[in-house]
Amino acid sequence: MSRRKKIYEGKAKILYEGPEAGTLIAHFKDDATAFNNQKRGQIEGKGVLNNRISEFLMTRIEAIGIPTHFIKRLNMREQLVRKVEIIPLEMVCRNVAAGTICKRLGLKEGEKLPRPIIEYYLKDDELGDPLVSEDHISAFGWAAPQEMDDMIAMTFRVNDFLSGMFGAIGIQLIDFKLEFGRQFEGEMMRVILADEISPDSCRFWDVQSKRKLDKDRFRQDLGDVPEAYAEIARRLGVLKDRPDLKVVAMENEP
Ligand code: TMP
Repeated sequence: MSRRKKIYEGKAKILYEGPEAGTLIAHFKDDATAFNNQKRGQIEGKGVLNNRISEFLMTRIEAIGIPTHFIKRLNMREQLVRKVEIIPLEMVCRNVAAGTICKRLGLKEGEKLPRPIIEYYLKDDELGDPLVSEDHISAFGWAAPQEMDDMIAMTFRVNDFLSGMFGAIGIQLIDFKLEFGRQFEGEMMRVILADEISPDSCRFWDVQSKRKLDKDRFRQDLGDVPEAYAEIARRLGVLKDRPDLKVVAMENEP
């Protein structure tokens, strides 16, 4: 594994050169950070669970016609993905007020928003990923207007689709973050969904109890962090073939 060429190491994943041109291997770590790296820790089994959860969600999203970077899962912690040039924006879509929008706009956590809202954050760790406007994005050339139109349309479609899918398993999709990248094939370029979709990048609340089943348990020191990730995997049915993985994640509860 270590013989492979490391392309990039992020907070939660390592990217290695893939076996063929235009591919990468994404390795999911247990490392967790919050508040732009100010809080650090490990969530036992997170990498294994996020690899599975993201595989499941990306595959379903691909099936409704949204192109993604996902090719196939390789093993417990790794998946093969298409190499893209990441667009340096985090597209955050919110249905219910939680996290940073509460403080910014004086909203109460749990307040339903008038309609789904998309926000853009510049991917820049040194600046702490600041909120930016569409005019900033076009003026500085971070994404072209057509790319923005495509990303906004795909983000709303993903929101509708995932809200329904999670609603059916008793989970409310509060908000989530997507990243997109440019895929080059000869003369052709298209924008596809990249990165991951997991309890690291979404807020999930149990519909009945309002219990948080996502990284907010880590951010806010709520405890039972691996158990929450395992619960999402269990409800999605992604560990059916590997019941032992569920046990691994549960055993490591704090
Ligand atoms: P926020 O309320 O902290 O701005 O987060 C909004 C959503 O985006 C939430 O589901 C968590 C996700 N998110 C990430 O995936 N990565 C990040 O760096 C941040 C700040 C948020």
